[in-house]
Amino acid sequence: MRKWVVANFKMYKTIEEVEAYAEEFKDLVAECKHNVAVCPTFVGIKSMAEILEDSDIYVGAQNCAEEEEGAFTGEVSAKMLKSAGADIVIVGHSERRRYYGETDEIVNKKIKAAHKEGLAVIACLADDGGEGFEENIKKQIEVLLDGVDTGEKLIIAFEPVWAIGTGKTMQTADIEPVTKVIKEEARKVLGYIPEVLYGGSVKASNAEEILALDSADGLLVGGASKDPNEFAKICNS
Ligand code: PGA
Repeated sequence: MRKWVVANFKMYKTIEEVEAYAEEFKDLVAECKHNVAVCPTFVGIKSMAEILEDSDIYVGAQNCAEEEEGAFTGEVSAKMLKSAGADIVIVGHSERRRYYGETDEIVNKKIKAAHKEGLAVIACLADDGGEGFEENIKKQIEVLLDGVDTGEKLIIAFEPVWAIGTGKTMQTADIEPVTKVIKEEARKVLGYIPEVLYGGSVKASNAEEILALDSADGLLVGGASKDPNEFAKICNS
């Protein structure tokens, strides 16, 4: 089955660096059998989209405003992302939750705002996969997915906070039960089972094993996506 491999550049790379990355990366994944997406910062989206126009690689953003437009200084709307060339947007990343106070209610509004513009959404859950994860995931999903347009593309990302940027990954045997609960709870709200990605210190050395899991539909990659060669290795796993 075709899976997803998504790069989250976080707050790294200038426009020039994004351009150099895109030029190098597109040839490295020309034979890739997965869906590949790269998410630079807002300012890198247009250049990235232009360079990757003739490739199968999707371009995404790492966040969007919950409002459509208005006096919201510093915010970037889903419509603006679309016009810059984005196909997809990550919302509710745990760094957004931790440093910018995003709640499930806010993330729910962002999903709806993005869907209104026809952007595919990767909605991140905030759970560490530890004790009580079933109840926490159920509660979160009910708020996160409330009233979401089921005709639009939605992917869920599960990234245990302790695994992000730490070099520690969840044991593959532990990923499976969590993704199963996510799919079951999401099915109850959406009426279908969405794809679920795993994220947290994914690198070329562990990508293959996680991609082989039936219940994980792909990977969300931070640190290891910064280098085009390393990320291409993950994509070609
Ligand atoms: P990491 O980040 O791969 O550097 O752990 C993942 C993420 O935050 O999406």
